Amino acid sequence: MRQLIAGNWKMNGLAGDTAAICGPLRTGADGLACDLLVCPPFTRIVTAANILVGSAVAVGGQDCHVNEKGAHTGDISAAMLADAGATWVILGHSERRADHGESDALIQAKTKAAVATGLSPIVCVGETEAQRVAGDQNKIVGGQLAGSLPEGFAGVVAYEPVWAIGTGKTATEADVAAMHLFIRETLVKQLGDAGNKVRILYGGSVRPANASTLLAVPHVGGALVGGAALNAADFLGIAKAAKA
Ligand code: PGA
Repeated sequence: MRQLIAGNWKMNGLAGDTAAICGPLRTGADGLACDLLVCPPFTRIVTAANILVGSAVAVGGQDCHVNEKGAHTGDISAAMLADAGATWVILGHSERRADHGESDALIQAKTKAAVATGLSPIVCVGETEAQRVAGDQNKIVGGQLAGSLPEGFAGVVAYEPVWAIGTGKTATEADVAAMHLFIRETLVKQLGDAGNKVRILYGGSVRPANASTLLAVPHVGGALVGGAALNAADFLGIAKAAKA
């Protein structure tokens, strides 16, 4: 399985930034051993898709609504993402779970909506620092997988320990290995053999300097990258550490 390196720009990226990041990715992605994806804010999906058209880099959104259209002020549907040139969508990021109170049930409904529209979903899970200190990480992540993934799920899962996001702290190799194995076993229980085909990304302060170590851990199917995705050279540096 090719690893997937996905960039989550979060609430960053004006017109100039989008050109500055996507321009170098367009050519830099040639010949890489991994799949590459950028997820700009909604306002720059069209811009990114236009710059990256015909290249090896895909474009995604960072959230979508459960409905296809209608009276939902400020929301964006999966159909709108697809219409703008996106083929992927990140769902259930811990910042959305925290900032918008998104529940597992809502994330599952969004995932169904995304898949029905033809988008590939990346569903995020991960424990907080307090939950890890209490030794509850498997219980929390297991519950999120059970609640957030619809039946027959065939997308991507991203494991992002909340305490490692944007902090410069990364989980140890041993912690990543243990959690990714736990997620793999849980996916197989939940989805049968299809659970073996789900790529499980690691996210949380992934940088060029730690990428080869993290990407070499068994059951790590790629990375979900925040801060380092805002710089084309750093993002490509991570991508170069990925394995086919
Ligand atoms: P980070 O963010 O790489 O800045 O830690 C990762 C994420 O939240 O997806």
